[in-house]
Amino acid sequence: MATIRPRRSVLYMPGSKQRALEKGKELATDAIIFDLEDAVAPDMKEIARDQVLDAVSAGGYGNRELVIRSNGIDTPWFKDDLAAAAKAKPNAILIPKVSSGQDVQNVRNQLKNLNADKSIELWAMMETPLAMLKALEIAESAADESHPLTVFIMGTNDLAKETGAAIKPGREAMLSWLSTCVAAGRAFGIDIIDGVYNDFKNEAGFKTECEQGSNLGMDGKTLIHPGQIAPCNEVFSPSNEAIEWAKTIIEAFEQPENQGKGAITVEGKMVELLHAEMAKRTVAISEAIERLKSAT
Ligand code: COA
Ligand code: MG
Repeated sequence: MATIRPRRSVLYMPGSKQRALEKGKELATDAIIFDLEDAVAPDMKEIARDQVLDAVSAGGYGNRELVIRSNGIDTPWFKDDLAAAAKAKPNAILIPKVSSGQDVQNVRNQLKNLNADKSIELWAMMETPLAMLKALEIAESAADESHPLTVFIMGTNDLAKETGAAIKPGREAMLSWLSTCVAAGRAFGIDIIDGVYNDFKNEAGFKTECEQGSNLGMDGKTLIHPGQIAPCNEVFSPSNEAIEWAKTIIEAFEQPENQGKGAITVEGKMVELLHAEMAKRTVAISEAIERLKSAT
């Protein structure tokens, strides 16, 4: 089983807002995206880049996963963003508007040329019409011993802008794209994080959308405000009942009389070996969440 890393809550912090960058050190978010792109106005790009370089290099964020989102590959800022990110050594660099496997390979090659630490991962924003049609090709570019692609982030606001699809409760117009990216990502061991919920003061609507993302198979959700972290962590954490049930299944398969069996009965329900695999993942993720809590 690949290393399991909780990615329930992934908070965007505008790189231009020094106050937010500090605040991130005390928030219970699993990951932080230091944003140089959409959240930063053009005349603040250089300041944001310098502040993010300083903040990530200095650290102080405990076990939180640190990610820098550069500006788009075709923008005048990209080259300097990538060089600064390589220097700051975050856990990952998030590339906006990825639209092909070649885009991923190009960024990987540029990082190699910069002699960036090989362990810096790549994350891809899935937010263009082409990315929806080429999700498989993008996912196929994941594996590499330098800068593997490990996470897809759904960019639902850009998708709405580029396609004309509406973002309404239930997200009817987006469902096929969300599921396509889940399937493509899962086929290549890539985690999938849902898009943001703009109406951040609407707690009930937010929670419903978290549940929808979780039901679709996502690992977590991107967030824009600290108030979204706690409800998001709750929805994307396995419940106590789920953890207990997982342990029951694992124990049942370990009984001598069940050795070598593919399907057994546990508390009146049919349980297969595949459920034992799922149960092991549930336990592993809950343990990883506990470790994260105790270290931050
Ligand atoms: N990360 C870290 N801290 C944040 C934050 C974020 N994304 N958003 C708000 N905060 C902090 C504020 O600094 C403030 O801290 P303080 O009270 O200790 O000074 C506190 O949380 C409360 O903020 P609040 O007044 O409720 O929000 P706001 O009106 O200042 O800002 C937004 C609202 C939406 C503009 C702001 O949350 C934001 O910029 N979000 C991120 C947007 C983004 O990154 N978009 C790009 C990706 S879609
Ligand atoms: Mg975007």
